[in-house]
Amino acid sequence: MVTGFLSAIILCPGLLSFWNSCPAENTNQPLAATPPIGWNSWNTFGEQINEEVVRGVADKIVALGLKDLGYQYIVIDDHWEGGRDGQGHILANPKKFPHGIKMLADYIHGQGLKLGIYSDAGDQTCGGEVGSYGHEADDAATFASWGVDYLKYDYCNAPDDFQEAIRRYTTMGSALKATGRPIVFSICEWGPRSPWLWGRQAGGELWRISFDVGDIWDTPHDAYSCIGILAAIDASANHEDKAGPGGWNDPDMLVVGLGNKGNVKGGGCTSTEYQTQMSMWCLLAAPLMIGCDIRTMDADTQRILTNPEVIAVDQDKLGKQGNRVARTGSTDVWRKPLAEGRLAVALLNRGDANAEIAADWKALGLEPGANYEVRDLWSHKNLGTYTNSFTAKVGSHETLLLRLVPASGTTVASKTANGDGKVGGSARVIP
Ligand code: GLA
Repeated sequence: MVTGFLSAIILCPGLLSFWNSCPAENTNQPLAATPPIGWNSWNTFGEQINEEVVRGVADKIVALGLKDLGYQYIVIDDHWEGGRDGQGHILANPKKFPHGIKMLADYIHGQGLKLGIYSDAGDQTCGGEVGSYGHEADDAATFASWGVDYLKYDYCNAPDDFQEAIRRYTTMGSALKATGRPIVFSICEWGPRSPWLWGRQAGGELWRISFDVGDIWDTPHDAYSCIGILAAIDASANHEDKAGPGGWNDPDMLVVGLGNKGNVKGGGCTSTEYQTQMSMWCLLAAPLMIGCDIRTMDADTQRILTNPEVIAVDQDKLGKQGNRVARTGSTDVWRKPLAEGRLAVALLNRGDANAEIAADWKALGLEPGANYEVRDLWSHKNLGTYTNSFTAKVGSHETLLLRLVPASGTTVASKTANGDGKVGGSARVIP
């Protein structure tokens, strides 16, 4: 027992400080027992991906402590491919990956991380590279022989048909399982054929429920052919019953820190908006795939991506996706049940002005009169014990992410508290 615990600490150094973050290599656990978390090349690099970038990102994930926070999968998106050889085996582009994917996987594994790769259920990928259609078993075997741990599988150049999509994903899902290697299968169908209904049966551990999220806050913008952060949040509502250990709804990758400089455009977001994306993705138990260039990210981006209390909401072992419990004007209240009777609550201000948002115990599914200790996970401050509701002033486009813990033996009635006064200089928490 002690030996097992000690070896777990050695294998997963972050365990002591963040015990829920390092998915156990326990065979009783499903793959992706908690939402996959890591980095993906697409949002920043697009076509410009190469092995030097991938190694550099992996090095930084370790050096900056992101690995200890649970960030684990380094995913190479489209444009790594270099066609097929005479026997039909898929090849890496030798100019971008001169040492091949196997060497890179060995390097990533040596860092205690895992490698992801990308392909497509059509004969070409979205970027016009070679796809896996008709080569599923061979490509799955190749990926496994390289030591790949994660496959993002896109749906460009494939038929619209619902049943055909299920067939194609099931073919690759089964091919991956047949390799005997645990490879997380990320279904990237974007949502039109409701993959939350069949993704798990097709072998998927996660499935996209929305189109690509751009570096943009609100409405879809034709010029960028992507949706905003808010649209992806809304697309996530009502699918919470489909998510759980081993199968997650995926509202696409994080745009946090892109600053309109990446491959994925949209005009850019403010730091508050990026923080809202992180808050809501964690509330939604979404896969957390960082999209910015970790090697050069600024301090504010690092702050948003590395808050252990926020990441713990995403990775909570109960494995529940949050849902919206109230929508009033431009404000939302969301709740996510956590292990041990705790609750995460997000107060999301979608509007352009500061707003007071009230989280009512009844709406949260809590017993009226029950005492809960409320903690602000971004400021790391306990805000007091509350009995029937909690109200706060939330800035424009801001999300207040709270954790509610049942207070033991407390019988106080409604409590008044003053907050940190971060918004507009006035008290944040309102009596
Ligand atoms: C699609 C996917 C993106 C990315 C690109 C690559 O648009 O939704 O996430 O993988 O293809 O070409």
